[in-house]
Amino acid sequence: MRILIAEDDNISRKLLKTSLEKRGYDVVATKNGVEAWNVLASNDAPQLAILDWMMPEMDGVDVIRHLRSAKMKQYTYIILLTAKGHQDDIATGLEAGADDYLRKPFNAKELHARVRVGQRMIEIQNQLEDHIRRLKELDQLKKDFLAMVSHELRTPLAVMKGGVSLCLDGVAGQLNDTQADLLGDTLENIDQLTRLITDLLDMSKIEAGKIVLRRDTMDLAFSVRKALNAFKYSAGEKGITLKIALNASSLPVYADADKIDQVFNNLISNAIRYTPENKEITLGVDILANDYLCYVADTGIGISDNNLKKLFSKFTQFSRVDGPGYKGTGIGLTIARGLVEKHGGKIWAESKEGEGTTFNFTLKRRDRPTVLIVDDEPKMVDVIEKVLSHGNYHFLKAYSGEEACELAQSEMPAMIVLDMVMPGLDGYGVIDKLKNDVRTQDIPVLILSSAQIEPDKISGENDAGAIPIMTKPVKPKKLIDSVESLIKN
Ligand SMILES: Nc1ncnc2c1ncn2[C@@H]1O[C@H](COP(=O)(O)OP(=O)(O)OP(=O)(O)O)[C@@H](O)[C@H]1O
Ligand SMILES: [Mg+2]
Repeated sequence: MRILIAEDDNISRKLLKTSLEKRGYDVVATKNGVEAWNVLASNDAPQLAILDWMMPEMDGVDVIRHLRSAKMKQYTYIILLTAKGHQDDIATGLEAGADDYLRKPFNAKELHARVRVGQRMIEIQNQLEDHIRRLKELDQLKKDFLAMVSHELRTPLAVMKGGVSLCLDGVAGQLNDTQADLLGDTLENIDQLTRLITDLLDMSKIEAGKIVLRRDTMDLAFSVRKALNAFKYSAGEKGITLKIALNASSLPVYADADKIDQVFNNLISNAIRYTPENKEITLGVDILANDYLCYVADTGIGISDNNLKKLFSKFTQFSRVDGPGYKGTGIGLTIARGLVEKHGGKIWAESKEGEGTTFNFTLKRRDRPTVLIVDDEPKMVDVIEKVLSHGNYHFLKAYSGEEACELAQSEMPAMIVLDMVMPGLDGYGVIDKLKNDVRTQDIPVLILSSAQIEPDKISGENDAGAIPIMTKPVKPKKLIDSVESLIKN
């Protein structure tokens, strides 16, 4: 094992070095804090360091503070050497991030014992990291496998469905009643399996952040009416009445109509499945200040407080419904949550056992795509807004990187116009943060900067495709066109 030592006193340094080398350690000796820091910040830094506290230029505690605040790939175990005996001082060193300490003049036996403790900690740490890496790999493998299998099953299923449907239509000759019954059951099961596979695929896409929304101005009221019609029959079979509560005949919203249908479908099919005969279910939309509040309220079996907390996790089921018919897999709500959140909305449930459940979700009350403009210079934000104001957009403005990330995560804009040079979290940092969150990773970004851009510093630049870059001052027409094409594509 390699050990870094930092000690300005020549004799102490030599003593430390020979004592450790005698025990078979590979020692990197430095004379001060700056040298030590350079070694620690390098690519193959030793995992254990013994730092003297009192050193010229940068002392041991400064090195530790530096190290702990920098985001290092690996953890360095640090033993602080101190000639000071006061309890307070040791506390300061440990608070700063030292793992252990050794008093000078040190005794060789104690030195080796403390180094061995460090070695044990490092081994445990390395084992843990190994486990985590393996678990992540396995998890990814499982996800890829699920996505691949689901995908590969779809084609043969479609072929089977086609064949059975044709037979049922009599294309291959007249069927007798038994044959028609058997094929009818087969078709029903094929449909069920197709639904399940589609759900599994959707879920793996949501988890990987690969769900792509095709947003446009749509009518939420139309979606609600469509959902009612789609479920009239299956509700009717259970004697359940479906009701609609809308405050307006049309509710325009900028969203992906298919995905919103899917959310309603999942909630309504649950409501029907978990509501006994002869009750009612209400679908509605309330208009709030900034949001639409959509809900599906049932008078069914309800959900306990404890279960409400786990409701949206995948493969969670609380009540297997007895008897024949399609039983779920417990992913309908996981998908619904993924789709709502991708729109920048929230989803939650309120319930009383035995009385019923209401599922609510919100959608931003905007009928146009949202453009988030980020620049620390307020005047610049205003100029960009003015240039883009001829387009049909809703604008959000952020004056710092931190604010930009918060808004992007809570509002899910259709695109972001981003300045790169900002105090605090700069444009590179913003991109890094957004790309590392599955929800925001595919929000298109347009870089608008006056400084030279360093492509190497842009995270995900190689795999995600180039981020368009424009230099200030920008030609209005070019900016308008770029924003439009980023939103459209
Ligand atoms: N309206 C409801 N009333 C009571 N319980 C509900 C309701 N909706 C969902 N649940 C409970 O939450 C669980 C999870 O619902 P979810 O839609 O995710 O899965 P599922 O309906 O079992 O299967 P599927 O994947 O086909 O949707 C259900 O199994 C059920 O126990
Ligand atoms: Mg369901």
